[in-house]
Amino acid sequence: MSKTVQITRYGGAEVLELVERAVGQPAAGEILLRHHAIGLNFIDVYQRSGLYALPLPLALGMEGAGVVEAVGDGVTHLQKGDRVAYASNPPGSYCERRVMPATHVCKLPDHISFETGAAMMLKGLTVQYLLKQCIPVEGLQAGDHVLFHAAAGGVGLIACQWAKALGLKLIATAGSDEKCQLALLSGASHAINYRTQDFAARVQEITGGQGVKVVYDSVGKDTWEGSLACLRRFGLMVSFGNASGPVPPISVAALAPKGLYLTRPSVFVYAHSRETTQAMADQLFEVVSSGKVNIHIAQRYALQEVRAAHQALEARQTTGSTILTV
Ligand SMILES: NC(=O)c1ccc[n+]([C@@H]2O[C@H](COP(=O)([O-])OP(=O)(O)OC[C@H]3O[C@@H](n4cnc5c(N)ncnc54)[C@H](OP(=O)(O)O)[C@@H]3O)[C@@H](O)[C@H]2O)c1
Repeated sequence: MSKTVQITRYGGAEVLELVERAVGQPAAGEILLRHHAIGLNFIDVYQRSGLYALPLPLALGMEGAGVVEAVGDGVTHLQKGDRVAYASNPPGSYCERRVMPATHVCKLPDHISFETGAAMMLKGLTVQYLLKQCIPVEGLQAGDHVLFHAAAGGVGLIACQWAKALGLKLIATAGSDEKCQLALLSGASHAINYRTQDFAARVQEITGGQGVKVVYDSVGKDTWEGSLACLRRFGLMVSFGNASGPVPPISVAALAPKGLYLTRPSVFVYAHSRETTQAMADQLFEVVSSGKVNIHIAQRYALQEVRAAHQALEARQTTGSTILTV
């Protein structure tokens, strides 16, 4: 048996329930894992609220770190006793122990703690594909400006640091002056409080009227229009989340005046196989091991405090990564 957080209906944080669930043994291609730490992500909120509706009852959570207790047939890259971390479907990481597919589970380097592993896999693999694989048609070189919304969040603080390591000038937006300061300390070249300032106008000032080559927009509804205005000719709009609500239906003609490109990616489109996942994870482990990227764990909650953790994330009260401890 394992203490597990699940929902039986969609709704606010109150629908999260801690229950005892049977764990079972791994089938072919699966592992049995004991968690030491669990990562919280905004996608967990979308799944809990029903914005991304999955069948009920639903165990939540897509990120974690721990120790392998058993492996099923055909799993060759892991063995019993390995320290591991992952970002993976299906959801179900908010628990003590689980059986899960092995494909996205990676061995954790010895010097990276379980807490750091749990706090960085989904967010860090996301930043890997955003900065290294979502490339504008004109290419991305050191010195180029990009705009990154919600830059003091879990994905955001990793992006600030990794972008700096790549020589990019990352213009950050965030919802308070304190969050802006954190983004600047993490390597952003500029930071805009988009609750008090017109971020599109500020981006034009900062870039001398040129605009940015890429906008990384995970806020969605509230920032969509302004984000398009920030892009330069042939710029790339990367819409990868909807923290403020989904982007309303758009007119393709809106892209015409500047010949813009639009993509709506997901981390598992890039990390779609064992090989692609491991290649992306190796790059993440390298930037973390070298100290170029520090994983900022600003909130820790016990598994049974999961409701408070969700409430803080949704209320924009968190910075960096949040983990659940078991
Ligand atoms: N497509 C993908 O592959 C992928 C993968 C991972 C994450 N994501 C997306 O990336 C975003 C960041 O994920 P995360 O887990 O690191 O979360 P997070 O950034 O730590 O938290 C979300 C942040 O969004 C901002 N926000 C703006 N408007 C908001 C609103 N109305 N309600 C709540 N928050 C609002 C808040 O920052 P401010 O107060 O600074 O505005 C909040 O802290 C999420 O949208 C997530 O879905 C997408």
